[in-house]
Amino acid sequence: MTTLFRSKCTRWLAAGVLSVATLSAQLAWAGSVTIVLPSDKSRFANGPNLTLVQETCRECHSADYVTSQPRQSRTGWQNVVTKMLVKYGMDPISTTDQALIVDYLVSVYGVP
Ligand code: HEC
Repeated sequence: MTTLFRSKCTRWLAAGVLSVATLSAQLAWAGSVTIVLPSDKSRFANGPNLTLVQETCRECHSADYVTSQPRQSRTGWQNVVTKMLVKYGMDPISTTDQALIVDYLVSVYGVP
C-alpha cells in the first residue's frame, strides 16, 4: 500500500514538474516576442513654444490625437490640458508651462 502510494505520488510529482517545465518553456517563448510598432509620423504644426508642446504632449499619444480635434477656444484648450493632468495622469507641469502650451494650442488650433 505504501509502495502504491509512493508510486502515485511520484507520478503526480513528475506530472507537476512536467507542467512547470512546459509553463517555463511557454514563458521563455513569450519573453522573446518582439513587437514593432508603426512609427509615429504625425507632427504638431509650427508655432510658439513648439518644443515644450512636443516634449509634454507626445509622451502618451501621437500629435494627431491633438491636431485632429475640432478647433477650440482658450478655455476649451485649458480644459483639455487640465484633463490630461487631472484625469489622465500627465506628469505635473507649472502653471507657466500650462499657459505656454495653451498659448500654442490657441494660436495654432484655436477658433479663428
Ligand atoms: C499621461 C498621458 C498623457 C499625456 C502626457 C497627454 N495626454 Fe492627451 N490624452 C491622454 C489620454 C489617456 C487620452 C484619452 C484617450 C482615449 O480617449 O482613447 C488623451 C486624449 C487627448 C485628446 C483627445 C480629446 C480628449 O479630450 O480626450 C486631446 C486633444 C489631448 N489628449 C491633448 C493633449 C495635450 C494638449 C497634451 C499636452 C499638454 C496631452 N494631451 C498630454 C493621455 C495623455
